[in-house]
Order: sequence, then structure tokens, then C-alpha cells
Amino acid sequence: MNFKTLDDIALAGLKVLIRADLDVPIKSGAVQDKIRLKRFVPTLQRLSAAKAKTIIIGHLGRPKSRDESFSQRPTATVLAVEMGHEIKFVDDCVGEKVRAAVDAMQPGDILMLENLRFHADETATDKRFAHEGKNSCDIGTSTFAKDLASLADIYVNDAFANSHRAHASMVELPCLLPSYAGPIVQAEVEALERALENPTRPMMAIVGGSKVSTKLDLLNNIVPRVNKLVLGGAMANTFLAAKGINVGASMHEAEMIDQARTIMKTAIDHGCEIILPQDAILADRVASDARIRMAPITDVRPDEMILDVGPTSIAYLYQTLEHMKTLLWNGPLGVFEILPFDAGTMAVAKFAATKTQAGQLVTIAGGGDTAAAMNIAGVADRLTYLSTAGGAFLEWLEGKILPGIAALTPSGATTGSEKLKIVSRS
Ligand code: 3PG
Repeated sequence: MNFKTLDDIALAGLKVLIRADLDVPIKSGAVQDKIRLKRFVPTLQRLSAAKAKTIIIGHLGRPKSRDESFSQRPTATVLAVEMGHEIKFVDDCVGEKVRAAVDAMQPGDILMLENLRFHADETATDKRFAHEGKNSCDIGTSTFAKDLASLADIYVNDAFANSHRAHASMVELPCLLPSYAGPIVQAEVEALERALENPTRPMMAIVGGSKVSTKLDLLNNIVPRVNKLVLGGAMANTFLAAKGINVGASMHEAEMIDQARTIMKTAIDHGCEIILPQDAILADRVASDARIRMAPITDVRPDEMILDVGPTSIAYLYQTLEHMKTLLWNGPLGVFEILPFDAGTMAVAKFAATKTQAGQLVTIAGGGDTAAAMNIAGVADRLTYLSTAGGAFLEWLEGKILPGIAALTPSGATTGSEKLKIVSRS
């Protein structure tokens, strides 16, 4: 890793502007899922104990301008309760009110500012980045970013889940302030590097989900890197169809069959075994009270859908995992949200967790659905690392550079393009 961390600085008395992942589901002002916030609590405790003046910034949802239903206030309330520490809140992120609140802070205090996306300038950088194809230090920083930077002595990115966005708070602030990776970013990057750049072999990846088309880049990036690739979910159906297996009424992408064949050919060239379901749980509807049948994968009837892997497939995965040292998991094996189509995902998750706890397997899992599935399986705390990031986790697996991480690279790299080169991964 090429970035500085909180271990590299004496924090006492410093005004620390920390970009956090505060993008949580909220209904009628109540936070529905607190995982992302709970994970941020140790960072806040550390900053407060070190007597920093902590100023939290983040976004919630995708408002185009000020919209109270996207206020960050409920996240401040949850963090304060979880921490048992007061967190003051200001209903904007720049301006005189904010400056006054920051000036009044004492060492150890924590202040949260309102949703960055209430200001269109927060996301405007993204377009510039995409257009210019380079980091925004090269093309100057916005007044919005300068106003934010003027509040603090240092900047910390602890929002891995947002690091695929070239937004002002992710890529412009590091141009303006000494920059550090927070503990969450550090842990995510360490885990992903451990899984992708430098894995202990043999290594298996499980990639599930509904569409090959949305995970094409990911598949192309990981096939040459893994020894075994298990495909699950509706995505596996496209590969089964590519092998001439009748998938009945199952969701699959006929237009991706050629791509699936190319991936299978690449896998052979790289000595990667692609593992498809050998049997399946079939149903005529995606519902718990559907007509359900278990059958070999070659025996799917025209009106049936493949909704989960069957026991023979699960047994084969157990047997294969016995010989693996690293497991990378993104995407469920079946429609885990609806019983009984959760069985394959739950069984393999528990098996992987047991082997991880026994010190026999390094398991890195991530993505929105995957994190939800691991929680339901009760293994979220029993894997080596579970990422709650969605798009950022996927983009890393696709081999893309995350602009928010690239922006944290050393000041020796004076231009954005140089920074990108430093973190570029083969
Ligand atoms: C996420 O939830 O994955 C991040 O907060 C990204 O949100 P965005 O897609 O609105 O940028």
C-alpha cells in the first residue's frame, strides 16, 4: 500500500476532516441497517481518544440538491448512541455556521456535517474525471472542495465504499490537505490485496448473481488469477446454456452465450476449473409455496427454473474447498432471500466460516447481496474479511483503479496521472 495511515501522525489537537461511509438505508428517519455505521465507531473512538477534533463528512442517497429526507442527522444520532459520545450536527457542510461550529470544538469533540450531496459540486468532479480521464489535482480544485479543506488540518478517507467515485470529497480534498487512509480503507485494501494480488494458493472464487453482463469485467479479471471458479445464481444458467444444457424457464442471457464460451476458453488456457451446478433446486415460480423439485442439472423441465444449487453440488463444493487456501466470494449461489432457495448459499457460507475459524482458509467476501447473505448465515464475523462495499468492491475485483484510493498516494506523485500510475494494478 502506498498511502499514509493514522499510525503515521500525532493526532492531538488536529482538526481531522474524515470522509466516512454514511450511506445507509433510512425509513421515516430511522436507520434500517447499522452495519456500516457500527464499523465506523472504532475509527471515531480512536480519533476522540487521541484528542483530535473530528469533523465527519459523507453522503446519504443520491439527492441532487438539499432534500431533508436525505439528511445525515439520523446517522449522527446512531453513531452517538453506538459510541456513547456526543456528536454535534450542523445542517450544512460549508459556510459560516459550519466554521463557527468547528471553531468551538475542543480536543476529543466530534462534529458531523450535513450530506455533501446537498451541494451539486460534490458530484460534479465525477464527470470531469470521466471526461479528462485523470485525477482532479491536474485540472484544479473546486471552491466547494477548498471551503471544505479550509475547515481542517488533515483529511482522512475512511469510506472505501465510496472510493470508486471521483467526487470532490474523495479526490479533491487529498489535493488540498495532507491525506491519510482510515482504518476501514486500510482493512479493505489489505483484504483485497490479500485475495487478488498476493493470495495463498490454491484459490477459489465464488461468483454469483443474476447477470453475466454486469460481471463480465470481473470474470475476465479473475479467471486468470484463480485455480477454481464457482459460478452460481442465474449467471451460472448462461454458462450451462453455453454448454448446451437445457435450463428450462430459468433466467439466463442468451445474448451472452458467446461471451460465456470465451470465458470458459480463457479458463482452460489459464488452468482454471469452472465449476457449474451438477444438480439444482427447481421451481415453477420464485416463491416459497411454489412446486419445488430437486434434480440433476441435465433434467430441468421446460416450465422449471433453477433457483439454487442442489446437495450434490454442495457436497462437491465442500470437497473442493477442503483443498483451498483462499476463497474470494461475490454473489450468492441461489435466490437466498426466499426460502428454501437459500440452502446452498447458507451451507457453503457456514462451511467456509468453519474452515476460516480453524485457520485453514482465508475468506474474503463482499458486495451488497453477499454481505446480506453472510449476515443471514450468521457468519459475518467469522470470515477473514467481509466488505460492506458494493460498487467499490466490484470495481476493485474488475481490476479498476479506485480514484479515492489513488488520490491517497504519496505527495511525491505530484500529478493525478502519476498517482494513478503508482497504484495501477496489473
Ligand atoms: C454505496 O452504497 O455503494 C456507496 O455509498 C455508493 O453510493 P453511490 O452509488 O450513490 O455513489
